[in-house]
Amino acid sequence: MGIIDQHHQNAEKLAAAKTAVKLVKNGDIVGLGTGTTATFAIKELGRLVGEGLNIKAVASSIRTEELAKSLGIEILNLGETSSVDISIDGADEFTESLDLIKGGGGALFREKIMASLSKKAIIVTDSSKKVKKLGAFTLPIEVIPFAYQYVFDQIAKLNGSGKKRTIANHDYITDNGNLIIDADFGLIDNPRALSDALNKIDGLLAHGLFIDLTAEVVMSDRSEIIVFK
Ligand code: A5P
Repeated sequence: MGIIDQHHQNAEKLAAAKTAVKLVKNGDIVGLGTGTTATFAIKELGRLVGEGLNIKAVASSIRTEELAKSLGIEILNLGETSSVDISIDGADEFTESLDLIKGGGGALFREKIMASLSKKAIIVTDSSKKVKKLGAFTLPIEVIPFAYQYVFDQIAKLNGSGKKRTIANHDYITDNGNLIIDADFGLIDNPRALSDALNKIDGLLAHGLFIDLTAEVVMSDRSEIIVFK
């Protein structure tokens, strides 16, 4: 992507994030997502907290928690929170039926728990994330390390191929101490069926297909905001 394209994409991410943050109300418990688009929302929330907005938040990753705390946002323990009023997170791909692929940033498991706890899970994206069918973006799958080969082989039985995520020639390790397999199933005709099949695999902690977990996608497309719900 060229510098100008990147600039446009960042402008879209910022516009979507600012639109979603307007939905946050005084007194809310807010779920904070992970990734570049969610970061725009967290920074905007931090600014509003500085102006007196009274919220508490849960974080979907260690890096989000650190950012939020640095901005003066009070963080609650996700594991001790039974309900989140509104969450704001990004996505790697979404369809108009509000199915998502998430986890490009490796935080899919906590993101899924946070979305499941949310009364209103809002996804913020630039226009590049909208697809007719999910699957051009490989599907992140978080795996308990000792189940790695088993899960890898089960993915192959579902006609997928997988690649262990690495960073600087080392295994990528999630905030939860696990591995990520980036799986390719081609374009996914039936995300729900694939999600159900993956959910049955022992040792597979979470996958990045988010089905029935999204209230709204707020997408920015050049100067326009489009809301899918
Ligand atoms: C993090 O694990 C992901 O689910 C992100 O929400 C997703 O990768 C979108 O990230 P960007 O906003 O950086 O594109």
